Amino acid sequence: MKVTVVGAGAVGATCADNIARKELCTELVLLDIKEGVAEGKAQDMMQTAALLGFDTKIVGSTNDYSKTANSDVVVITSGLPRKPGMTREELIGVNAGIVKSVAENILKFSPNTIIIVISNPMDTMTYLALQSTGLSKHKIIGMGGALDSARFRYQLSTTLGCSPADLNAVVVGGHGDTTMIPLISKATWNSVPVTEFLSAEQQEKIVKDTMVGGATLTALIGTSAWYAPGAAGAAMVEAIVRDEKKLFTACVALDGEYGQKDICLGVPVIIGKNGWEKILDFKLNDAEQAAFNKSADAVRNMNDVLKTL
Ligand code: 2OP
Repeated sequence: MKVTVVGAGAVGATCADNIARKELCTELVLLDIKEGVAEGKAQDMMQTAALLGFDTKIVGSTNDYSKTANSDVVVITSGLPRKPGMTREELIGVNAGIVKSVAENILKFSPNTIIIVISNPMDTMTYLALQSTGLSKHKIIGMGGALDSARFRYQLSTTLGCSPADLNAVVVGGHGDTTMIPLISKATWNSVPVTEFLSAEQQEKIVKDTMVGGATLTALIGTSAWYAPGAAGAAMVEAIVRDEKKLFTACVALDGEYGQKDICLGVPVIIGKNGWEKILDFKLNDAEQAAFNKSADAVRNMNDVLKTL
């Protein structure tokens, strides 16, 4: 197996680090446009191999896409991260051009690859990657819902005082502060609905804190997150290379599921060796479906901006 991570910033490097530590592939290519950065970070990570005991070979490269040839999976993290006070959507002007060119270059050397998109605004960048590569819809996966669902489980666990690992909880819809929909009605703690243990006020606070999970820490750090986004990307790579058939919320092309089409939006999917293999199209309650439709409208408006760039 060969995996490429494009963008050796904090998210890309963290994702690569997780992939190497888990030995998800024999060769891992880290690519960046900034001279020397990917090579330097690849060397730094390779120097942990003797300490951590992994065998993955990490190759860094400054924008030489030939090094990425025949990758089974490519993770795109390129583009600017948001700063405090910014929305993810404000990044579209700069990041759209970057993601389009990265996706096209990747395709030249790995025409059958599966692409995981992390760059923001993630839902629109996933749609753009689908349009610009012409790959099968099953091979284009946006990472957002996996991250947002992990943040949801974190918020639930701190209020419930339990392990996030014991919680099942998904966030559907867009990967934006106002477009994501944490489905608290469906969240369970070892199969018991969490709503059994939480007051209406607690539920409302958990949902709100989840939605601004990224913005809250961006305000604290001064730049966007990397540990959880990197780990979420690596978990998706793992599901593909190990053919896990694992359930994630991921941003994928909808064709009538959840009442939407011609859009990439976060829904529960099974991920395995073929990319996203199946959408779990279950019934949302009326309020959730209305929120999903509103989220789709917002993402569609953002997708329309692509036509003006
Ligand atoms: C986040 O929410 C990077 O969009 C990513 O942290």
